[in-house]
Amino acid sequence: MTRPLFALLALPLLAGCFERDMPEASDGVALFAENCVMCHGPLGRGNGVIAEGLDPKPADLTRIAARAGGTFPRAAVLSKIDGYTKQPQEAQMPEFGLLLKGPTVPVDVGGAQPTPVPRPLAALAAYLESIQR
Ligand code: HEC
Repeated sequence: MTRPLFALLALPLLAGCFERDMPEASDGVALFAENCVMCHGPLGRGNGVIAEGLDPKPADLTRIAARAGGTFPRAAVLSKIDGYTKQPQEAQMPEFGLLLKGPTVPVDVGGAQPTPVPRPLAALAAYLESIQR
């Protein structure tokens, strides 16, 4: 009888942890500066210092939602950064899945259940979502 009771007591505590650990857009700023600006530019508009030499050109990351019809495609963005859906012909955009490992946080990607996502990856996606225009 003690075990289920303990589980019940632990639930709100766990929920509290999740909330505290949920990254904000500001948590992704440094990661973006370190890993993305050389291609996507300091404001994410696709004009980084090495963008000129790339084909295809780095995407304007402030227009992701606009290109997707107005809704920020969270799942697609997470996959893109992680490299999960990377195709062999997509040679320019590196995959960051290995770099962005860490404890997971539940992210709402539109499905029935939130998806566990490594915190640094979720932070980057939150940052990108915040710069949409
Ligand atoms: C070496 C250059 C390079 C770096 C570094 C880079 N990207 Fe990219 N990225 C690209 C290119 C080129 C594209 C467009 C072609 C493609 O989709 O693969 C792109 C596309 C994307 C897209 C898809 C946008 C869309 O609407 O389709 C996202 C999201 C993205 N990058 C995020 C990031 C993030 C976040 C980082 C840093 C963790 C990053 N990129 C680092 C070159 C880069």
